[in-house]
Amino acid sequence: MRTLLCAATLVLVTSSLTPRLLNASDLPGIPPETVADYIHAVIEADRTFYTIHVVERQQKHGVTTAAENWRTKKNVLPLPAQFLMESSDLAMKTGLKVRYRLISLWPINPGNGPYNEAEKNGLESVRQHPEQSATNTVRDGDQTYFQAIYADRAVSQACVTCHNAHPKSPKKNFIVNEVMGGLVIEIPLAP
Ligand code: HEC
Repeated sequence: MRTLLCAATLVLVTSSLTPRLLNASDLPGIPPETVADYIHAVIEADRTFYTIHVVERQQKHGVTTAAENWRTKKNVLPLPAQFLMESSDLAMKTGLKVRYRLISLWPINPGNGPYNEAEKNGLESVRQHPEQSATNTVRDGDQTYFQAIYADRAVSQACVTCHNAHPKSPKKNFIVNEVMGGLVIEIPLAP
């Protein structure tokens, strides 16, 4: 009897000491806000790197420049905004319905203005509180999306110089580090 009790205690003690391996499916879901923050961290890192270490670097050394007509003009780079839009299109092609775009209260391309009043409010909110995303839920056809708008800052002089000089830019006095617009990320919520 005594031996049996000892064995049972040993089993209990060792099983409470052995770390139990958790499967991702055992855990509660990651909130959409956090998923959007993860995606944002990656997109922003790529966008900043491309602008500073590819576009700005090539322009500074007179190698080449970035321009809208990069597809037809083989020796120019895609604009940072086009890099982002093209990668969003590729992400959509995976079928995962994750999408993102740039918007602004002073868009060079009128198609990049806020789609509605809620997006306009989101842009104003991230301009005042750049550290905090503006979140919402939007519907497109049968699909509901979680939407997060993040501040899009002028991380380099190249952002400012190009926008201020662009003939179609409604604002000509952007300064470095200013919030120039917003990065909208939309991820599908369960149907
Ligand atoms: C070489 C020029 C150039 C550079 C550099 C550049 N942009 Fe732009 N940006 C543009 C053009 C042109 C568009 C419009 C693209 C389109 O047709 O949708 C645009 C689009 C945008 C938009 C969407 C609203 C709009 O104006 O249409 C935002 C926001 C934006 N850029 C912010 C930035 C930031 C921040 C940087 C630096 C990280 C940057 N841009 C670098 C030229 C530039």
